[in-house]
Amino acid sequence: MKRLWDKGEPLDKRVLRYTAGEDYLLDERLVPYDVRASIAHAKMLCKQGLISAEDSQAITNGLNALATSHAAGEWKITLEDEDVHTALEKHLTDTIGEAGKRVHLGRSRNDQVLTALRLYMLDAAGELHKSALDAASALKKLGKQNKDVALPGYTHMQQGMPSSVELWANGFAAELEDDANNIVSALQRADKNPLGSAAGYGTPGLELDREFTREALNFTVVHEPVTAVQLSRGKAEAALVFELSLLMQDLSKLATDLLMYYTQEFAFVKLPENMTTGSSIMPQKRNPDVLELVRSAAATINAALLEILGITTKLGSGYQRDLQRIKPPLFRAIDLAGASTEIMVQLISGIKFLPENIQLDPSIYAAEKAYQLVTNEGISFRDAYRRIAAELNNDE
Ligand code: ARG
Repeated sequence: MKRLWDKGEPLDKRVLRYTAGEDYLLDERLVPYDVRASIAHAKMLCKQGLISAEDSQAITNGLNALATSHAAGEWKITLEDEDVHTALEKHLTDTIGEAGKRVHLGRSRNDQVLTALRLYMLDAAGELHKSALDAASALKKLGKQNKDVALPGYTHMQQGMPSSVELWANGFAAELEDDANNIVSALQRADKNPLGSAAGYGTPGLELDREFTREALNFTVVHEPVTAVQLSRGKAEAALVFELSLLMQDLSKLATDLLMYYTQEFAFVKLPENMTTGSSIMPQKRNPDVLELVRSAAATINAALLEILGITTKLGSGYQRDLQRIKPPLFRAIDLAGASTEIMVQLISGIKFLPENIQLDPSIYAAEKAYQLVTNEGISFRDAYRRIAAELNNDE
């Protein structure tokens, strides 16, 4: 079988190469999801009396076998296939024959790609949620291990108030837990069944059961009306990448603190040796490259968000091929946020604080002293503040 839209006319190879671009490579990760969606669709067609029970069974078995052989590395999507949808239908027809040609009744690659992407994003968000919570746990553990270690609390990068390793670590942990929760709730937009919307205008003349595929695929609602489906492409993607961008901001701030704590001048921490890298010229170096790359990953993910929003901003309604270009920034952001979070879990677990190098400037207790004056002498905070400030000036 050739392309799904092949009507016998020759296709300029250059056009295929340009329009498919890297899409066929990116679609590799969508194989299991397109299989799931196609099985649900075939079962629905059978329930509606549009294909026979034997054909539905053959399609289900054939697709399951293809998912297994794909996972085992036995086949890949090629440029000639153009995308995951075509590749699966081609392989299915090659293996089960005629029945394979019946699966595309009442659907389009437009609703197929959205279904596969949504199922994939829901899974990916689950993993990102877990990694962010792992990072939060590692920080809480680090805080607990260093319960009694004091740390200067900085404002404007100047020592401001006494703090502790535990307070510092728990602050990040709390924000990471919040990020984890928001990653999952961002996907409410993806939790709608696109199947049955077909090219974007439903299937006039063909009775499909969109509720059946909704239930089979575990979506909370059917995405209605059919014209809303293509309008929504890019929104769940942007919502997820926005949350990843916020997650990365927290990891980036954590990285920046640690980079400062790791300088020879501060030397508040020792990083695990297997987490540092060497220099080709300076034998003594143990560089914190991981932290620097995590910090800059935040910029890459911000850019991915802008890329997604830029693609969808000026489109009219209905499917347009521009939408395909949302996949690269989406996958880039998911992969990078996942990898950055995971490496940070390992790094955090190996951090050693060096209390002997952590010195709090005596002035750091100034606000605390002013509070004592207020409680002990009943004077206003403003007067107490001035008295302490004057005392500090006299000491100079
Ligand atoms: N690769 C395409 C995408 O991601 C799949 C849908 C193609 N649809 C079409 N009408 N050409 O958008």
